[in-house]
Amino acid sequence: MKSKKIKNQALIIFGASGDLTYRKLIPAVFNLYKQNSLPDNFAVLGVARSSFTDETFRVKMIDGIKQFATAKNISDEDLELFSKKLHYLSLNTDQEGEYSKLAERLKQMDAEEGTERNYIFYLSTPPAMYPVIPKYLAAQGLNFQNDNFKRIIIEKPFGVDLQSAIDLNASLLKDYDEEQIYRIDHYLGKETVQNLLVTRFANGIYEPLWNRNYVHHVEITAAESIGVENRGGYYDHSGALRDMLQNHLLQLLALVAMEPPMAIDSESIRNEKLKVFQALRPMSNEDLFKNVLRGQYTASNVKGKYIKGYREEKDVDPDSRTETYVAMKLFVDNWRWADVPFYIRTGKRLPTRVSEVVIHFRPAPQKLFPETVDMNDENQLVIRIQPDEGILLKTKMKVPGGGYVVKNVNMDFHYSQLQDTYLPEAYERLLLDCMVGDSTLYIRGDALEATWKFVQPLLDFWDNNPDAPLHGYPAGSWGPESADALIEEKNLTWRYPCKNLSDDGIYCEL
Ligand code: BG6
Repeated sequence: MKSKKIKNQALIIFGASGDLTYRKLIPAVFNLYKQNSLPDNFAVLGVARSSFTDETFRVKMIDGIKQFATAKNISDEDLELFSKKLHYLSLNTDQEGEYSKLAERLKQMDAEEGTERNYIFYLSTPPAMYPVIPKYLAAQGLNFQNDNFKRIIIEKPFGVDLQSAIDLNASLLKDYDEEQIYRIDHYLGKETVQNLLVTRFANGIYEPLWNRNYVHHVEITAAESIGVENRGGYYDHSGALRDMLQNHLLQLLALVAMEPPMAIDSESIRNEKLKVFQALRPMSNEDLFKNVLRGQYTASNVKGKYIKGYREEKDVDPDSRTETYVAMKLFVDNWRWADVPFYIRTGKRLPTRVSEVVIHFRPAPQKLFPETVDMNDENQLVIRIQPDEGILLKTKMKVPGGGYVVKNVNMDFHYSQLQDTYLPEAYERLLLDCMVGDSTLYIRGDALEATWKFVQPLLDFWDNNPDAPLHGYPAGSWGPESADALIEEKNLTWRYPCKNLSDDGIYCEL
């Protein structure tokens, strides 16, 4: 349904010949088109160095839509009508002199398509261009808002460390106001990530328990079964800490740990998230040794198939010490969470793709039923982000029959049970939010810097101590064996929700 607030506008994508545009952005815009969510006058201008014409660009994008758009019942007519909204401009984006061509083209589009000088500039380019493109746009006056808007969406990685993030923010803020800058983290566009806010703040029953008095520890996992695919060149300079933890995992943590916001609006929510980042206990030298574990996948046979080790991947240094797995124990030093450990982990080439948040509750104060001995069996609330999105409460029940035999049972809800429910793609939601000027699900500059500030000591530590332990783990396993040791409590391990069913499947309990 079309939002009343949505203005006629153009989306200008830099890096339009790249994978993200092809697989995610254009299919997401198409989904919005199918739902009638785009404004009446809307156009996309793809910008890149490659020499497409409007026509050849449309052909390529239609191919991407056919493969990746999730909208149902896509007809040839839909594709034909939608593709008319797509345009292309070949431009050397690192040459300031070229930008007058862009300004001209936009004027022409405004005249022909009625896009009214409202522009979103989406930077899906190599990060080196993040400070450059906005500056050259501003030199053409394309940062200037009057009764129209100019917004910039910046993909991750937003900086590679604290200083580069500070510098990038400062460079953008020279020409743009904070409210014009949309720093994207696609995890925040996931339906179930937003559901975290609803679970916490629309239900009266969880919030009283959501604190150090009742929560024993919190676990956040983002596991992936894929390796680095064709991104070895990028990944080898990034690693799991920069690629997943500094952004996606800490964003999830903030939603789990934040105080109730005054309202569900951009400033209230982002203020509360910032406070969580500011309360993260800085990692001491001892923590860097004791509370962090990094790993790298090694070659292995998974279901009869040879899987390369990380160092054999294309564009990866054969002696690389880049981590493809990282696990960390950390603390949020505030009244709500004092001394409650948060365990977070992410890795590539793990047995399956699963992301979830698990709230582990404290045991009942007195053990009346002797069968309950294992901390792993205490009550848990599992919020499954993907796949099989849903929520599960592990609770104890008596097994029918003599005596008191206690068993864990699952009270669970799966989104898939909602008939005909369409779970929008993350980019769909985020693009639409930017189109209506809602930045709630985008990262504010101060929060971005706060997350880099937290991980910086670890980046420095690994830089200065290249020989710091890097644990090998066979591709297809749950990471380094020593990961369980991070959880010091007796009998306590990470939650391993997935079981190998057979050669062709892994089943993850929800
Ligand atoms: C990206 C990372 O931000 O997130 C990738 O750069 C990772 O390395 C991806 O594979 C995971 O996203 P999702 O949505 O598949 O969990």
